[in-house]
Amino acid sequence: MKTIIEPFRIKSVEPIRFTTVEERRALLREAHYNLFALHSDDVLIDLLTDSGTAAMSAAQWGAVMNGDESYAGSPSFFRFEAAVRDLMPFKHVIPTHQGRAAEAILFSILAKPGRKIPSNTHFDTTRGNIEGNGAEAHDLLIPEGRQPGLVHPFKGNMDLDALEAFLRRHGEAVPCVMITVTNNAGGGQPVSLANIHGARDIAHRHGKPFIIDGCRFAENAWFIKTREPGQAGRGIKDIVRDMFDGADGMTMSAKKDAFANIGGWLALNDDELATQARTRLIQTEGFPTYGGLAGRDLEAIAQGLTEIVDEHYLAYRVRTNEYVSERLGALGIPVVKPAGGHAVFVDARAWLSHIPPLSYPGQAVAVGLYEVAGIRACEIGTVMFGRSPDGSERPAAMDLVRLARGGRAPPRGGAPYSGGALGARGGKRDARGGSRAAGQPPMMRHFTARFAPLA
Ligand code: F0G
Repeated sequence: MKTIIEPFRIKSVEPIRFTTVEERRALLREAHYNLFALHSDDVLIDLLTDSGTAAMSAAQWGAVMNGDESYAGSPSFFRFEAAVRDLMPFKHVIPTHQGRAAEAILFSILAKPGRKIPSNTHFDTTRGNIEGNGAEAHDLLIPEGRQPGLVHPFKGNMDLDALEAFLRRHGEAVPCVMITVTNNAGGGQPVSLANIHGARDIAHRHGKPFIIDGCRFAENAWFIKTREPGQAGRGIKDIVRDMFDGADGMTMSAKKDAFANIGGWLALNDDELATQARTRLIQTEGFPTYGGLAGRDLEAIAQGLTEIVDEHYLAYRVRTNEYVSERLGALGIPVVKPAGGHAVFVDARAWLSHIPPLSYPGQAVAVGLYEVAGIRACEIGTVMFGRSPDGSERPAAMDLVRLARGGRAPPRGGAPYSGGALGARGGKRDARGGSRAAGQPPMMRHFTARFAPLA
């Protein structure tokens, strides 16, 4: 049977609220055209992020009731630790309240002024935590990964020659090598097993720890299984273990590939680094057996990790994105190809080519989509990545708009609606110009900046 359906039943639902175009125009003005400033009950279909927006399973809700809230030594921690180690056998597993807390702890130790940290592509908070500690974040993606319309099975791959050259040139200044699976900023694109191992081996030859940002490890494993020669016969768990084989650490947001609404971890093998990290954890997050989470959250994560590696689920998730992507393509809307694992990405720079990157074409698509249809998407382009710490601006590698679906939610019915809505927006493609930032913080501006339409 080839048709792919939701591999779950739904027994609990929430209503969504419909608004009119006039209401949405007023709400946009009030929000200064920043979609992060909207109230989520004014959003019909929220595709802002897959982060923390998963629908938990009955088994996860059941596990929540087993949460042990002891300050120290909770059995919930040991179940969490065992579930993580079942997939990624690191020596030290340090729970944090979400991914960026793991990054903040790691980079408070490793990132200092003068240091440089290479990755395939750092996501926004990773870059923010590196730059916030005075170091530089460098993206060494393969060139194919920056061409939205080009089909390539592993557009998240690190440019290994560039990594080798980077380490030869800047070796002294590099405290670690990172890789993000999948590459969220580059369109939810996977990294091949060969490339992960290649980057690991180069890092090790230069004596550098190799750290994986594993937020979407399960979808990456699915892409390896379905796209990498020789991998089709392997189980997802087996591939996941191979991805992390020989890595020295990982940062993780359990809000993505653990089906949890909150949580994360930092995992390390080095005892000395782990001691420093735990000390920092106690200062900022909590005791090492809960680290900023309730026992019930640890339980939800432990159970979620056993569910995310289900092949029926992963096939459904990826196929649904492909379906939306195909529909958008049929409407003539340029998208990142192939479809990403957690989201579909519209190529706003190509679509609204009359808007120069520094006038934020992605912002125009995202705002237009909310106005027309009440759908909230996320600009991943020059607003998010175009500003350097010194305040100068240049176009980001791409101007994309991400339509992200939380794990198991929303159901597939939202997909044709999104496609139709984007099509309707497309009809008005020249109606909206760009915008400028009219008030912004020095870093990670996309979350809180205000925008003013140009003309
Ligand atoms: N790394 C990647 C690749 C991410 O996508 C994110 C979060 C983080 C780290 C930080 O994790 O949110 O738990 O602190 N990305 C979300 C998104 C927010 O919308 O893509 P966090």
